[in-house]
Amino acid sequence: MDTKPGDAEAKPGKTEDSDFKVTPWEVTGKVDYDKLIKRFGTQRISSAIKRDMEKIADGKLHVMLRRDIFFSHRDLDLVLKDYRDGKGFFLYTGRGPSLGMHIGHLAPFVFTKWLQDVFGVNLYIEITDDEKFMRNSDYTIEQVGEAARQNILDIVAVGFDPDKTFIFKDSEYIKNIYPLVTKIAKKINFSQVRSTFGFDPSTNIGMIFYPAIQIVPTMFENKRCLIPAAIDQDPYWRLQRDLAESLGYYKAAEIHSKFLPPLSGIEGKMSSSTADSAVYLTDPPEIVENKIMKYAFSGGQSTVEEQRRLGANVDVDVPFQWLYYLFDDDDSEVERIRSEYSSGKMLTGEVKKVLAEKLNGFLGEHRRRREKSPEMLDKFMYSGELAKRMWRRIYE
Ligand code: TYM
Repeated sequence: MDTKPGDAEAKPGKTEDSDFKVTPWEVTGKVDYDKLIKRFGTQRISSAIKRDMEKIADGKLHVMLRRDIFFSHRDLDLVLKDYRDGKGFFLYTGRGPSLGMHIGHLAPFVFTKWLQDVFGVNLYIEITDDEKFMRNSDYTIEQVGEAARQNILDIVAVGFDPDKTFIFKDSEYIKNIYPLVTKIAKKINFSQVRSTFGFDPSTNIGMIFYPAIQIVPTMFENKRCLIPAAIDQDPYWRLQRDLAESLGYYKAAEIHSKFLPPLSGIEGKMSSSTADSAVYLTDPPEIVENKIMKYAFSGGQSTVEEQRRLGANVDVDVPFQWLYYLFDDDDSEVERIRSEYSSGKMLTGEVKKVLAEKLNGFLGEHRRRREKSPEMLDKFMYSGELAKRMWRRIYE
């Protein structure tokens, strides 16, 4: 059963029983994901669902599913059923553009590419330049425009299918969706958005209206929509699920990930605004190495002698958590590091070195692919098969 936006339970900003907070704009404290599943009213991804997906994916489940980085969902079972029954489904995800896209922001896109490859479905990517501008008082329209362009180049570099993927900026595509936006907006009242997002009387009216725009792409096709994203975006989907059927559409299905933690420690989520705590896609190798060596919070002991004797606490060790979250190694390799690091056989410096090398390898490849993005961008936004079709459509 869905949590209603008006329910006390649905308030993501609520702190009464907890020391953590998760909203689309802020994550603080050490997130207890079991509690969050209860608070948001979602489902844990069961082993039966994972087995189903593994079969469809020819026996190879994505590392983020294997390791429960994607850990929670709504209606994923129904999406898989629709797929098996031949009805199909489509994917939707997005990005609020900022001038520092970090490695955490890219993670859901990498996973989404895997889903598109496995299921061969259409994908819509919303770039919410409007949301970013209205939410952040220090952004000008020009800065948001530049950030959108840079972020789109990073997203294109992920390698989606150019004929099955449509990337659009709200400020440009709004004319095709405005009639449907108004229908959605009419179904949401102020008290719902206030309790869902924790808005208050000082919130600008743009942000109060904005949720209707983020909901629209869930209705781009008359099929079930599956949204891969970190769980911070869930409040939007709760609103969507309350109104979709009354407009003749499916309730959105979601697959939620945990957050990649900041370098400073496992509390909160990595955020673009604290430079030393994030690794940006543009960071050159020496900076990446320096940030990891200097700022990554270690669960190891403070002296070599103590580390050899007591070992590290990998649960709070950011370098280990990043290796676990991001890299598709053989699981036995990660387990070897876990065991040798926790028993004291490995030292923090060694684990950090492994991470820096892997991260630099990944970022180097990403940058090489990104060099080709400018020539591909037009296909994803305007001239690919799906993009062309979308520019001809008006959503009423
Ligand atoms: P934005 O730009 O804040 O985040 C983009 C995507 O990255 C996820 N994310 C993270 N994942 C892992 N670790 C982190 N530390 C981390 N921080 C952010 C977000 O969950 C998101 O998937 N309003 C949205 C834009 C949007 C959207 C969507 C996102 C529009 N439609 C549909 C997802 C699905 C935003 O500002 O995302």
